[in-house]
Amino acid sequence: MKITLSIIKADIGSLGGHIKPSARLLKSVEDYLAKENKGLFVDSFVCHTGDDIAFLFSHKNGVGNDKIHKFAWDVFVAGTAVAKEQGLYGAGQDLLKDSFSGNVKGMGPAVAEMEFEERPNEPFVFFAADKTDPGAYNLPLYLMFADPMYNSGLMLSPNMAKGFKFVIMDVAHTEGDKVIELNSPEELYDIAALLRDNERYVVESVWSRETGDIAAVACTSRLHNIAGKYTGKDDPVMLVRAQGPFPATGEVLAPFNIGHYVAGFMRGSHNGPLMPVKMNSSVSYFDGPPVVSALGFCVHNGKLTEPADAFDHPYWDYIRTKVSRKATELREQGFSGPAMLPYSELEYGGIVKKMEKLEPKFKVRK
Ligand code: F6R
Ligand code: MG
Ligand code: MG
Repeated sequence: MKITLSIIKADIGSLGGHIKPSARLLKSVEDYLAKENKGLFVDSFVCHTGDDIAFLFSHKNGVGNDKIHKFAWDVFVAGTAVAKEQGLYGAGQDLLKDSFSGNVKGMGPAVAEMEFEERPNEPFVFFAADKTDPGAYNLPLYLMFADPMYNSGLMLSPNMAKGFKFVIMDVAHTEGDKVIELNSPEELYDIAALLRDNERYVVESVWSRETGDIAAVACTSRLHNIAGKYTGKDDPVMLVRAQGPFPATGEVLAPFNIGHYVAGFMRGSHNGPLMPVKMNSSVSYFDGPPVVSALGFCVHNGKLTEPADAFDHPYWDYIRTKVSRKATELREQGFSGPAMLPYSELEYGGIVKKMEKLEPKFKVRK
């Protein structure tokens, strides 16, 4: 049976600044999903990561389906009304357009979708990150699909011997989707050369070269490219299929023990280490640190199991301590050097005005 998994996520308002959505807001979107489904999707799931609410739909309508996207948009609009009523901060923040135009991509919400022939056992991992951008998944995807130091199955399993194909997008190109397909292991160095630059090149999808099946799909939209100014961070989502011809779930999770530095900490303008957190976690220190949650599901005939909260394990407490240390160490140098993003990536226009004011005051010495 062909099934589509769609994650659609947005920040439509939160408590105490950008910390997390209110219980009432979450309840209102859950009630809306249950009441208004009317057979559009087989199953759904709602959670939040930091200030973002994510929906997971399993359905039979394929990717980019206007009915599913319109439904998600309507839920966000209805939720925004509740957020406004409660006076939540940033109510409707990620809904960048006034009316729906066929697909939520390019309208603010983050999207990751894949359609595939369901296996008899279909385990997958749902990722949602806050205070960071889509390039945050570049390194983990590279390591889980192309590096035998993280994915032992590349050496040990006959099902992954041919490696994986990476589809990578140049997200600076806003007139359309500009993508390149590269095969691992033959083109590993080319893949690395692109994925080095998290703000420019982003993994869109990964495919098994043994079976031709889709293995992973990540969100590639960048809000500041859509709106041309700061409107909130991109806070990306990702789906990864696991086991068999794909990495084992533990191999999918393994690269997140690095807590690698990513863009998006405070005001979307600083680097910070990506902390693996439990489901429905908030953010805190310096509006962060950047966080990612991972939920393991199985889907059968489109029905979703309950999630297994993959980062809710004593091992990850140790990693969270390490990541807290990394965050503190980088924050000690405030605005200096790698702590803050380069000028082109700063999300707030204030500094542009400041630089314009300062420029004429410079004198070139004779
Ligand atoms: C929002 C975020 C925050 C805000 C910061 C300032 O997701 O990352 O760090 O950028 O709290 O918010 P404003 O500009 O809304 O006062
Ligand atoms: Mg926000
Ligand atoms: Mg957010």
